[in-house]
Amino acid sequence: SDAVVSAVLNVDVKGPVISRHVYGHFAEHLGRCIYGGFYVGEDSDIPNAGGIRLDVVEALRALNIPNLRWPGGCFADEYHWMDGIGPKEQRPSMVNTHWGNVEENNHFGTHEFMALCELLGADPYISGNVGSGTVKEMSDWVEYLTREGDSPMVRLRKANGRQEPWRVPFWGLGNEAWGCGGNMTAQQYAAEARRYGTYCRDHGDNRLYRIAAGANSDDYSWTEALMKQLGDLGCAYRPQPFYQALSLHYYTIPGTWQDKGAATVFDTDEYYRTLVKAAHTDELLTGHSNVMDCYDPGKSVGLVMDEWGTWWNVEPGTNPGFLYQQNTLRDALVASLHFDIFHRHADRLVMANIAQTVNVLQAMILTDPDSGALVLTPTYHVFEMNKGHQDATALRVDLLSDVPAREVGPDTLKTVSLSASRKDGKVLVSLSNLDADGAADVELDLRGGIVGEVVSRILTAGAPQTHNTPDAPAAVAPRSHEQVTVTGTRVRVHLPAHSFVTVQVDVA
Ligand code: AHR
Repeated sequence: SDAVVSAVLNVDVKGPVISRHVYGHFAEHLGRCIYGGFYVGEDSDIPNAGGIRLDVVEALRALNIPNLRWPGGCFADEYHWMDGIGPKEQRPSMVNTHWGNVEENNHFGTHEFMALCELLGADPYISGNVGSGTVKEMSDWVEYLTREGDSPMVRLRKANGRQEPWRVPFWGLGNEAWGCGGNMTAQQYAAEARRYGTYCRDHGDNRLYRIAAGANSDDYSWTEALMKQLGDLGCAYRPQPFYQALSLHYYTIPGTWQDKGAATVFDTDEYYRTLVKAAHTDELLTGHSNVMDCYDPGKSVGLVMDEWGTWWNVEPGTNPGFLYQQNTLRDALVASLHFDIFHRHADRLVMANIAQTVNVLQAMILTDPDSGALVLTPTYHVFEMNKGHQDATALRVDLLSDVPAREVGPDTLKTVSLSASRKDGKVLVSLSNLDADGAADVELDLRGGIVGEVVSRILTAGAPQTHNTPDAPAAVAPRSHEQVTVTGTRVRVHLPAHSFVTVQVDVA
């Protein structure tokens, strides 16, 4: 018989707010993410605004995309922003040494990125160059973007056609400084972050939220070094001028860096190993939060997981430096599991950015290089089904029964995962059944509210390997879910094997 999980949701007990920014995105100059993804150029037959592909914009607007990180990644630390402004034909080229060793013509630069954010209605998150740039270069970029009135950088911006300053809320001080961003030690970088952060000024009423390049995976000593640089925030906290948050990067890879596994060809063992790796995110967020709590018990400093997601071997026949991979129902379940974890860490986690939005790693959108056809991935649908959690109040889930679990090598994977939030008189519950073969039932007792209309949707398919292609674009797509019964305050939800379900309940 199916496993049954019982849980209580106290819908009138408010937890922390789930920042909409944990549903953030990332676009790097890498493979076909920018060129051939977001940006097709003004002469393309594909409908575009200033070269920006409009169907991509429309699809991302439907997710309420809250922010977009750019221009990297590793690329950020070799990007010189002044090469990407002014008339396109006069912009110098460079070699993108990290990603495919290809020539970058700088046709997509600051103005194009800001236009993209305006079309998306998303907040820009710009990663500045610490690894191979200078403090002055970064400081000038901030002035160019955000200052009003008259100044050298303002005059340059105006000469390039933009009168008003832009609003830039999020600013990254380099990327992966322990690796591609300069191979620094934690102590070296912490001192650099303090220096760079100092000269990234708040101009006018633009307030930068500066994000220091944080740890790789479980490198807790990196987090500790950055927290130490901020000084003692425990007793008399005052907003620090150099950085307001630390980042964290962790990718879900069931294999090794040399052989990560294929995106669409995997067996059940590899399926479970993938989900165990994804579930590890909970331990990482707990660990880094614990270190931060020692220095900042008031939780003034944010944690930003600005790179996460699956990383597979590239699709056969594609450029190894372009990181193009397909995306199956398994990827969707990796995403839904991450969101449950993010919701549970809403008190410290202020932002997260999946890597990357179009045609790279765990993408929302794949575009065909020949026909231009656009495909929404299973992961896209999780973002869409979960968008009601953005800026909602997290609800604690109290389990009354054991959650089914299975041994996966030395690890244990809980195969049912759920989280809930409340906003505007609606409770949204997200439920994942990670079991490859068995169904489960979840019985929710919604205490403290009167249950009104219930709307449920499901994302599943015949097998976890199922994915969308131009020929079968809706092989994995959300449908209405009928296997939900309501009795008083109790809502019972049936979860087929390898499925993701959302239940939205009107509560008074
Ligand atoms: O997202 C791809 C790369 O992964 C990024 O450029 C880098 O920051 C990370 O190592």
